[in-house]
Amino acid sequence: MTLLVPKHIAIIMDGNGRWAKSKNMPRTYGHKAGADTLRKILTSCGELGVEYLTVYAFSTENWKRAKEEVDALMFLFKTYLKNEKKVLMKKNVKFIVSGRKEGVSVGLLNEIKKLEDATSGNTGITLNIAFNYGGRSELVDAIKKIVENGEKDITESTVEKYLYNHLPDPELLIRTSGEIRISNFLLWQIAYSEIYITDTHWPDFNEAELLKAIESYQKRDRRFGGVNVK
Ligand code: IPE
Ligand code: IPE
Ligand code: MG
Repeated sequence: MTLLVPKHIAIIMDGNGRWAKSKNMPRTYGHKAGADTLRKILTSCGELGVEYLTVYAFSTENWKRAKEEVDALMFLFKTYLKNEKKVLMKKNVKFIVSGRKEGVSVGLLNEIKKLEDATSGNTGITLNIAFNYGGRSELVDAIKKIVENGEKDITESTVEKYLYNHLPDPELLIRTSGEIRISNFLLWQIAYSEIYITDTHWPDFNEAELLKAIESYQKRDRRFGGVNVK
């Protein structure tokens, strides 16, 4: 059976720094170029009929980087939030953010809320930005709330109810720039995702590469622990 276009694609947008280094430019130049790639890939995903796009933009571990890089990433995200509303409205994109609020500036949190509210009625693709996100923090936060609320009958659905959002699990997880690891992304949700890794750095990723990833996904034999009879 040929698999269709995935409903939900998740992307670890990695390699901005290496891309910039290869051009003798500062790492922040790579992050700016990465934001442009995100715009293009969001458009392509929308046109292909993907319903949810989750992208890893800043991890709970990325605070370890030099202050000037962290500041630049915060500034870049704030600029994106301020400037992107028109385009997202025009493209009917619903914008949401998943991650911990602690550590993120009030100004940035306000801009996130504004854009989430402005786009909440949109019915096209959902863009979920994982920002100050960690798969472990998400599970710790969920467990804390489960205990606080005195939940008794704990099932997989109980855990899912307390995750940052309620999107279906991604069928396809893409990582750019070659590292063969998860780096604390969506630990719960990717239990059965198909993984596609490309050496291309995120700023060079494009629609042709996206189609290659989807074609690879379409050739997979998804068994979910069972046996497929062909
Ligand atoms: C991904 O690119 C973007 C973020 C983690 C914010 P990197 O900045 O990790 O780029 P490399 O991996 O150092 O090349
Ligand atoms: C993962 O990339 C996080 C994001 C893309 C935001 P990293 O560059 O932080 O991951 P490691 O350090 O190579 O595992
Ligand atoms: Mg990296």
